[in-house]
Amino acid sequence: MTTNASYPKHKIKVLLLENIHAKAIDIFDHEGFQIETISEALDEHELIEKVKDIHILGIRSKTQITEKVLRHANKLLCIGTFCIGTNQIALHACAQKGIIVFNAPYSNTRSVVELAVGEMIMLMRNIFTKSQKMHIGKWDKSAKNSVEIRGKKLGIIGYGNIGSQFSVIAEALGMHVYFYDISDKLALGNAHKCKSLEELLSTCDVVSLHVDGRLSNSKLIGEREFKLMKDNVIFMNLSRGHVTDIEALEVAIKSGKVWGCSIDVFPEEPKSNDEEFVSALRNLPNTILTPHIGGSTEEAQANIGDFVATKIQQFINKGDTYGAVNFPEVQLPSFEQSHRLLHIHENVPGILAKINAIYANNNINIQAQYLKTKDDIGYVITDISTDYKTDILNEIKNIDHTIRFRILY
Ligand code: NAI
Repeated sequence: MTTNASYPKHKIKVLLLENIHAKAIDIFDHEGFQIETISEALDEHELIEKVKDIHILGIRSKTQITEKVLRHANKLLCIGTFCIGTNQIALHACAQKGIIVFNAPYSNTRSVVELAVGEMIMLMRNIFTKSQKMHIGKWDKSAKNSVEIRGKKLGIIGYGNIGSQFSVIAEALGMHVYFYDISDKLALGNAHKCKSLEELLSTCDVVSLHVDGRLSNSKLIGEREFKLMKDNVIFMNLSRGHVTDIEALEVAIKSGKVWGCSIDVFPEEPKSNDEEFVSALRNLPNTILTPHIGGSTEEAQANIGDFVATKIQQFINKGDTYGAVNFPEVQLPSFEQSHRLLHIHENVPGILAKINAIYANNNINIQAQYLKTKDDIGYVITDISTDYKTDILNEIKNIDHTIRFRILY
C-alpha cells in the first residue's frame, strides 16, 4: 500500500529513456517535474537501480519492463510508452501495483497513409525498377505498363484509423475506394463497403492491408487470396508482417499475377540495423521493400511525444486514466474548491461502500464520484469538500484490498 498525499510537483521524478521527443520533455518541464533523460534503453539490472526513485517512466520499444523491475518500482505512478506497442511491459503486474500505462496508438497513422499513397503511385508507374536501371546506366523511356492512379479501384482491407484515412485521401486523388472490415464500419465519402473479402479481392486494382495484428489474421492473404485477385494487381502491406504469406506472395510476383508490391512489415524482422535482412522478396521486380518505417517520421515522433506526455500530465494533475492500456478508464471534469481522492484497489465487492461509509460517518460531503473497474482492478475518484479531518485519509488507505491512494489539492 502506498500513499502520496498531494506530492509537490518539483519532487516528482521523471526518467525518460530511448531518446524520447523534446515535446514530451517540454510538457514535463512546464509542470516543474525533475527530468532525467538517457538516450539508450537500460537493461534489467540498470533499470532496477534507477526505477526505485522514479515516479514517471518514459520508454520506447527496447526497454523491457519485467515483473522483477516492477518489484523495485515502489514509487512509480505511471509508465508512458512513447510508441504504439506495449508488449515490452508486464501490463498486468503494472495494474496490480497501481501503475498506469499509456501509449500512442494513433499518433503515426497519417505517416503510414502518406507512404502508402506515395508507394501506390510509384508502383503503378514502375518507378522503382526504372530508377534502379538508371543507376546502372540504362535509359528505359516508355509508357508501357505505366498507369495513373486516377479512376483505379483501391481495395482497403481493415478500415480502422489508417484504412479510413487512406480512403479519404485516395478518393481525393480520384480513386474509387472499396473496403472490407470484419467490424461494421461507416463508409467515408463515396467508399464502397464490400460484403466479403472475396468481393474486394476480385474487384480491385490495388489491394492494401491495414488490419490489426490479432493472431487470427496470420496469413490472411495467402495462395487462395492471391488467386482471387485480378491479374496485374498491385499489393501493399504496411500493417503487420504475419498477415501475408510471404511464399505465396513470392510465387504471385514471379508468376506476374502481382505486378507490383510494397511491403513494409515482415514475419521476421532484424532486431537491429546491424542484422542482415533475409527474405524471399529480395531482388524481385517492381517490389518496394522498406524497413518497417511506415509510421516513422519526425511529425509522428513529435505527435507521440505530445500525446503520451499529455496523458501522463492529465493523470498526475487530475487522476484521468482515459486511454490507459491496462487500467479502468476514468475522466472527471476539473475540480474546484474540493480535494480529489484517487483510490486504486483490487476489484472485490464492497470497496466503494466502505469508502463512502467513511465519508458518511465523518459528515463529509461528496461533490463528485466515479468508480470504474477493469479485470481485477477498481479505480474510484472522489471529489470532497475541503473541510475534513485528515484522520479519514488513514482510514481510507487502511481499507483492505487498497493498492494505492493519492490526494490532489
Ligand atoms: P485499427 O485497429 O484502427 O484498425 C484495424 C482494422 O482492421 C479494424 O477496423 C479491424 O476491425 C479491422 N480488421 C481486423 N482484422 C480484420 C480482418 N481479418 N479483415 C478485415 N478487417 C479486419 O488499426 P490502425 O491504427 O488503423 O493500424 C492498422 C495496422 O497498421 C495495424 O496492424 C498496425 O500495427 C499497423 N501499423 C503499421 C505501422 C508501420 O510502421 N508500418 C505504423 C502504425 C500502424
